[in-house]
Amino acid sequence: MQVHEKRRDITASVAILKKQNKTIGFVPTMGALHKGHLALVEKAIKENHIVIVSVFVNPTQFNNTDDLVNYPKTLDADVALLSKLSTDIIVFAPTAKEIYGDQMSSIDYDFGGIENEMEGKFRSGHFDGVGTVLKYLFTIVSPTKAYFGEKDFQQLQIVKKLVEIEKMSVQIIGCPIYREESGLALSSRNKRLNAEQFEASPLIFKTLQQVQKDFGTKSVTTINKWVSDQFKNNNELELEYFEIAKASDLKSIKRKQKDTKYRAFIAVFAGKIRLIDNIALN
Ligand code: PAF
Repeated sequence: MQVHEKRRDITASVAILKKQNKTIGFVPTMGALHKGHLALVEKAIKENHIVIVSVFVNPTQFNNTDDLVNYPKTLDADVALLSKLSTDIIVFAPTAKEIYGDQMSSIDYDFGGIENEMEGKFRSGHFDGVGTVLKYLFTIVSPTKAYFGEKDFQQLQIVKKLVEIEKMSVQIIGCPIYREESGLALSSRNKRLNAEQFEASPLIFKTLQQVQKDFGTKSVTTINKWVSDQFKNNNELELEYFEIAKASDLKSIKRKQKDTKYRAFIAVFAGKIRLIDNIALN
């Protein structure tokens, strides 16, 4: 299994693959891989000649230093997990300097407004950081297809916009959310939950499932209030936001309209650990 830190080594491997007309499936990650990542990699293996997985905790997308410092970093374990899927996978695990050089800054993107909703409101600069690192990674890896989980549904829409803006030819593939048996959406941050927080966490998906059931018959105002009540007086979980939004532009709504697709989005703090989730409503 090849593990490269240097951009020039990946570029050299990619050049050979391109000459051989091989398709490249790309799974960008921040490491601490879980079954959700592995499902993306498995799909990429099925659909491409070769798969590249990047493992890079991207500093420019963190608005919270504590979150960046404590983000789990487990490269050896990640490589071991990937090699169980296929020893042909190429891992790109660069340093920040390798990606950003001496100037670690984000490009100021206009993603058409999606960047200002939900995660954008609560994590200032986050999507500029995501857009910037993916622009650099896509340029280095030159993938045919890139794979993203729908847990970060807003990020998925941002990435689709990014490739339009940057006129990149990569095809963006969204993949379903992978969950614990309890319903908790898999996330690298789950590794930081203590026993009490982990036990409390299924409430997040249970709440979304109930919202999905009620969406046809109850008003958005009633649902919003009900969700907020679910987290009141909870010792482990604190609701940061809950929104019902149009799936097309992620604008939050007060009233439903006919023939429009909606999704519910939620962000919750378990102590200092931030968990997000979402569900299609119709
Ligand atoms: O979803 C993630 O893990 C990150 O935002 C990504 C896409 C790897 C960019 O750093």
